[in-house]
Amino acid sequence: MKIRILGAAAGGGFPQWNSHATACRRARTGDPAAKPRTQASVAVSADGAHWFLLNASPDLRQQIEANACLHPKQGLRSSPIAGVVLTNADVDAIAGLLTLRERQAFSVYGTARTQAVLDANPIFEVLARDLVARRPLTVGQAERLVLPDGSSSDLTIELFPVPGKVPLYLEEAGRTPEIVEGEGTVGAHVSSGARSMFFIPSCAGMTAALAQRLQGADLVLFDATLWSDDEMVRAGLGSKTGLRMGHMSMSGPHGTLAAFRTIAVKRKVLIHINNSNPILLDDSPERAAVTAAGWGVGFDGMEIDL
Ligand code: MLT
Ligand code: MN
Repeated sequence: MKIRILGAAAGGGFPQWNSHATACRRARTGDPAAKPRTQASVAVSADGAHWFLLNASPDLRQQIEANACLHPKQGLRSSPIAGVVLTNADVDAIAGLLTLRERQAFSVYGTARTQAVLDANPIFEVLARDLVARRPLTVGQAERLVLPDGSSSDLTIELFPVPGKVPLYLEEAGRTPEIVEGEGTVGAHVSSGARSMFFIPSCAGMTAALAQRLQGADLVLFDATLWSDDEMVRAGLGSKTGLRMGHMSMSGPHGTLAAFRTIAVKRKVLIHINNSNPILLDDSPERAAVTAAGWGVGFDGMEIDL
């Protein structure tokens, strides 16, 4: 199985358009230790010819152009992109679907909940339903991903619930959304033969069930939105904690680094990294700490072969 990280940053990207914070300024001035990153998306393939996207980031057009494996290879109109698997309905997971208009056949996979969000928003009708199949997936049920001609790909997908909240734009005004485990926020388990990987770009907390599921995995790409729960508040960048945004943070006794100390995973890579997270800076002590703990820090164009 081939995996290509198209974008490793969280919503907003790095640098974020309206951020004049130090890290974003470093990224903008070409500091080699502050490499820019686009918003999170991953491409996976069993054969190197047909690719499935895990989330469709607002930066998808740029990501396709930056990755030759996703360029058209045949005829006048074609695409190696056979489908998109959505892990939630956040803007940074679905906005890139709009880039995939222009009458090209592919499939959109996601839970019934995520499909309902797309169905309720007529802008997604630009993905003509006679060509773009919307395929609901049931959590906990593995299914073979299909190619646009209806034949089976060599990839199997299983979505599973992780703690999360509703998308920001669906929150009720004045109410703090509940963190729940259901169909709204899921992880994706993609397998091909004996190889498999997990994509979990949004997760509000480690549960015993999730830890057990990840035990022994070949590869986990995991939510690295924030280093510490209150980093945006302390930096004066916003009023929300990580948990309020539906993301567990990396440090602290209940953080990602601590949680994974008892989960044996062959390779673990951080993804969906917010521009406030100091691990984005190659010369930060936090970067040194995650590297020492055995984590890779995702970057755009990162290739992993399983
Ligand atoms: C998140 O990951 O918390 C969301 O992408 C935030 C957003 O929708 O802006
Ligand atoms: Mn996000």
